Amino acid sequence: MKPVVLAGGTGSRLWPKSRAALPKQFLALTSESTMLQDTITRLSGTDAEAPVFICNDAHRFLVAEQLRKKNIKHGGILLEPVGRNTAPAIALAALHATKNGEDPVLLVLAADHLIKDQLAFHSAITKAEALANEGKLVTFGIVPDQPHTGYGYIKAGNVLNVGFEVADFVEKPELETAKQYVESGEFFWNSGMFMFKASRYIEELGKYHPEMLEICRRAIETEAPDLDFIRVDSEIFATCPDDSIDYAVMEKTDSAAMVPLDAGWSDVGSWTSLWETADKDDRGNVCVGDTILENTINSYVNAEQRLVSVIGLEDVIVVETKDAVMVAHKDDAQSIKNVVNKLKAEK
Ligand code: GDD
Ligand code: MG
Repeated sequence: MKPVVLAGGTGSRLWPKSRAALPKQFLALTSESTMLQDTITRLSGTDAEAPVFICNDAHRFLVAEQLRKKNIKHGGILLEPVGRNTAPAIALAALHATKNGEDPVLLVLAADHLIKDQLAFHSAITKAEALANEGKLVTFGIVPDQPHTGYGYIKAGNVLNVGFEVADFVEKPELETAKQYVESGEFFWNSGMFMFKASRYIEELGKYHPEMLEICRRAIETEAPDLDFIRVDSEIFATCPDDSIDYAVMEKTDSAAMVPLDAGWSDVGSWTSLWETADKDDRGNVCVGDTILENTINSYVNAEQRLVSVIGLEDVIVVETKDAVMVAHKDDAQSIKNVVNKLKAEK
């Protein structure tokens, strides 16, 4: 099995730590290592081959350096001149993996997830690999605990030898729909990790988005190796439509299957989810760096450069960096992306 690590996201909801020049996947938010490094080291003990990375051209040295520091051998670092979302990124990786006539099972991983129980994850991978070898496009399903609208929802269908058929896949439903799904008890969240034979993804993408596949094919035809890096043709790739694997393939394919994953998974989508997954002190606080808290409970405080003191508050998030301080209510941490959009508009 060949891991494909998607490392091209922007992670804007973790501003002000996560920046355009240093997005979330390159930060050490959940351990001493960066999220990108943890993505690979948590596979140790499986039969994973050298992983392929796919990221924005601007982040190539970050990726190479973070891999070098952990002695991670890679099977190529593909560079996108612009982000076109996950459907084309995975297509480039699948085309690259099949170019010598091989057809490996790909384990597509996001570079910015937390998985606490490594062994449970490995066992789900083994099950998914069996389904992938039968031609299925396999997702990993998480039992939902709230009607989150930032996730894909999977309705479990017929039971297979391992896992389930996917009766329905709905990407990012409206809140009301998400509530019904969670109440029904029949739906799982899509974890955003996938497993399939490279050729099966190419076939399915070709069925539903032939133009996208064709552009990716041409963009990587004349792979231009530069040291460890493989550059995608920027003029051709610029014409590629923007879409995620979830909308472009998973909602449409008849070959989807799902393996449940109960491994302490989180996509660390916001400061609030980081607080939720972290170890807390006896007042429910998570403190990083130089902090002093008084009469403060259930809060997340991260001080990078200066001493940060919080007094008499609850359910707050305070993140201090060299050039920005962000204070938010824990229930409104998703709105940080609006701040980031305002900052972008001012530029
Ligand atoms: N190379 C590359 N290029 N990587 C990308 C790109 C791109 O253009 N866009 C996103 N990525 C990477 C991100 O860095 C992340 O690791 C992964 O692909 C998923 O992208 P997100 O943008 O984080 O997706 P999402 O969180 O909105 O939704 C996906 O994940 C959810 C679970 O976290 C979907 O798969 C949902 O269905 C799923 O529930
Ligand atoms: Mg995500």
